[in-house]
Amino acid sequence: MASPVELSRSLPSHGDVRHAENLYAKVSHAIPAIEWPIYAQDIDAIMTLKRTRNAVVLAHNYQTPEIFHCVADLVGDSLALAREAMTVDADVIVLAGVHFMAETAKLLNPGKTVLIPDQGAGCSLAESITPADVRRLRQAYPGVPIVTYVNTSAAVKAESDICCTSGNAKAVIESLGVPRVIMLPDEYLARNVAAETGVEVIAWSGHCEVHELFSANEVRELREDYPGVIVLAHPECPPEVVAEADFSGSTAAMLSYVGDNRPSRVVLLTECSMSDNVAIQYPELEFIRPCNLCPHMKKISLRNIRRALETMSGKVEIDPAIAAPARRAVERMLAVK
Ligand code: 13P
Ligand code: SF4
Repeated sequence: MASPVELSRSLPSHGDVRHAENLYAKVSHAIPAIEWPIYAQDIDAIMTLKRTRNAVVLAHNYQTPEIFHCVADLVGDSLALAREAMTVDADVIVLAGVHFMAETAKLLNPGKTVLIPDQGAGCSLAESITPADVRRLRQAYPGVPIVTYVNTSAAVKAESDICCTSGNAKAVIESLGVPRVIMLPDEYLARNVAAETGVEVIAWSGHCEVHELFSANEVRELREDYPGVIVLAHPECPPEVVAEADFSGSTAAMLSYVGDNRPSRVVLLTECSMSDNVAIQYPELEFIRPCNLCPHMKKISLRNIRRALETMSGKVEIDPAIAAPARRAVERMLAVK
C-alpha cells in the first residue's frame, strides 16, 4: 500500500498556487468549465484562509475533485489520514471527510482545533452500533478481544481494545495472536478478513450503505460488457463481490494497485468520487464507473469548508472520559506495523 508520504506527495503544492485558475487544467476532465468560476472563488478564499488561520485540509479519497485536487494539503484512506493527523504542523485541521474521521483526528491531536465542515456527515457503519452494544458483547464473550473498525464513534472506540481500518485489519487481527476476535461493526469486512487470516471472527450486522449495493452478478456483467476489465473491490463489499474481484483493498491500496499495474481498463467497486480522483492522476487509463455515492461524504463542499474556516464553526469536541480510552484503542492500532 502507498504510504501516507507517497499519497501526500502526489498533490500540488498549494503554497505555490497564486490563482485557482492554475488548477483548472488538472481537473478539467472531471469538472465542467461552466461550474469552475464558482469553485474558483471558494478555492481562492480557502487558500487565503488556510494561511491566516494556520490551517490544513485533510481530505479522504472520496472527496470530490475540486476538494481533493484543489484545496487538500493531505489526502488518503482512513489509516493515512489518522497517521497524517498526528504529524501536521498547524493550529487548525479541517477534516474533509465524515465525522468519525474528524473525531479520530481530534483524538490524536487534542491540543489542535479540528473542524468538520458539516457535523451531520455521518456513516451507516458508525450508526449501526452503540457503546451499550459493545458492552453486551464483552459480557457475552468474556476474554475475547474487541477490534473496532475506525468507522465508529469515539464512544464505541472507547469500549474496544484496539481499532483497525480496512488498510490494516488483517495485520491488527494477526498482531493479537489469538484464535478468536470480535470485530465490529462491519459484517462484510469481518467476513472478508476472517477468510484471509484463519482467525475466527465474531461479527456485528453493520453494513456500509454504499458498498453493500454491489453484487457478484454486477461484477460478472461488468466483465461481459467490458472485456479485460480489472475489478478492484473495497473490503466493505459483500464477500461474494470480493471473491469475484481481481484485488481487494482499502482505498489507498486500490490507488496503489492502479499505479503499480496500470490496468488499461479498470473498475473500482467503491464510492464514486474515488474513480474521478484516480482518473485525474492516470488519464491514460479507462475507468468504468458504476456510480454509488456516499451521501455523507457528499455533505462536504468547498462552500462549507470555506465557511468553517471563516467562522471557525464545526469544532469537534470529545468528552475527556471517552477520549482517553478511545485514543488508547487508536494508538494501539497505529503501533501495529
Ligand atoms: P478507507 O479506509 O479504505 O479509505 O475506507 C473508508 C471508508 O469509509 C470506506 O467506505
Ligand atoms: Fe460510511 Fe460507507 Fe460512507 Fe464510507 S462510504 S463513510 S463506510 S457510509
